[in-house]
Amino acid sequence: MDKFLIKGPSILKGQVSISGSKNAALPILASTLLFDKPVTLKNLPRVRDIDTMLNLLRSLGSKIEFFDNKKKVRISKTKKQKYFASYSLLKTMRAGILVLGPLVAKHQKSITSFPGGCVLNGNSGRPINLHLNALQKLGMKFSILNGYIHASSKGKLKGKTIKFPSISVGATQHLLISSILSDGTTILKGVATEPEVVDLINYLNAAGANIKWVGKRTCQIIGVNSLKETNYTVMGDRIETGTFCVAATLTKGNLLIKGFDPSLIKTELDLLKKTGAKIKILNQEIHIKGPQKIKKINHLVTKEYAGFPTDLAPQFMVLLCKANGRSSITENIFKSRFMHAMELQRLGAKISIKNNQATIEGNTNFIGAEVMSSDLRASAALILAVISAKGISTVSRVYHCDRGYENIEKKLKKIGVNIKRIS
Ligand code: UD1
Repeated sequence: MDKFLIKGPSILKGQVSISGSKNAALPILASTLLFDKPVTLKNLPRVRDIDTMLNLLRSLGSKIEFFDNKKKVRISKTKKQKYFASYSLLKTMRAGILVLGPLVAKHQKSITSFPGGCVLNGNSGRPINLHLNALQKLGMKFSILNGYIHASSKGKLKGKTIKFPSISVGATQHLLISSILSDGTTILKGVATEPEVVDLINYLNAAGANIKWVGKRTCQIIGVNSLKETNYTVMGDRIETGTFCVAATLTKGNLLIKGFDPSLIKTELDLLKKTGAKIKILNQEIHIKGPQKIKKINHLVTKEYAGFPTDLAPQFMVLLCKANGRSSITENIFKSRFMHAMELQRLGAKISIKNNQATIEGNTNFIGAEVMSSDLRASAALILAVISAKGISTVSRVYHCDRGYENIEKKLKKIGVNIKRIS
């Protein structure tokens, strides 16, 4: 297992190019199962979750061709369509479940393993009930045997009105891609409105789907018979952008962050301004300078978009450790997402956790130590903390980081971080 060896503290300066969005690309890739014609996707991030999804598609019979240093991919059908999505591929990546709906929608059958992914919800795990219940409403039947979901439908799925009992990004994406070839009209109420959902809809409509927003959290999908050959450029990564913005703020840095639409992270940028960062918004660029003294944020609360994203809470926690007083974070999406807090304490942070609320004392001078990543965004938070820590640190289990951050050590080296990967 690889580790990062990082010598701090560093002041980050220079330019960073943001990679394509992993979370936007994954459902887009899963939906290629619905096409008879080829799909070409540009700006794919070279991260492990994308490789896993491509391997999954390959195992289901898709032909995958790479171009442009693997950032562009052409996915086409072969005659060897398969319906079995194995545990070995789904165990590391929750988004693998997104192949279930398209397989049933297009071929009326699938055997799909229960998925894995980051452990963020303590004992409640990461359920897929919202996905399965909604697919059932479209006419999918399923039973569960030996950890696999055996699903089928009699003919095409049928358009229905579905109201999600709570907001889920994955279930929204899954139902969007599963209903575009249905008979009739589907109305999805209570959908997620994250930019990655909007990117998926833009791409599906470009491919000939008929999806319309008919309310703030309501989508109407009129079924179509087929999708056409499509070229699409995946949006930039919102969380990677936010992570680099925190990095600049944390280290008194000065970064020009390129390749992302700043209007999509207004909430985060406004918060960083409150901590003292100077931010200039340009077209697809953010110029951000960190303050000499970081100001505290009294209370940060994670919420669905356009609220503050749960995927940036660990990184902001690091920033608040260095702020000029006490702050708190309430985590509303994943109830036990504070595993990185214990590791931050090894670097000197003073954080106490009660239920889904963390209290962060501030005024911490991080001192280098050995720390271990527990999940994808925790790994980003630990890397940020050790960059600003005095001395040498190691961050182990960076395979979590490799799932979602493209070339992180190359990008960090370029802007002044003393970082080495040790195998
Ligand atoms: C996606 C993102 C993840 C992000 C999360 C919330 C991807 C690949 N992952 O995850 O990075 O942290 O959105 O913005 O895009 N839930 C259920 N039943 C379900 C589905 C979800 O109870 O069937 C619960 C979850 O446990 C969680 C909440 O709903 O408490 C929100 O989860 P959801 O929005 O579905 O997250 P993901 O799509 O898995």
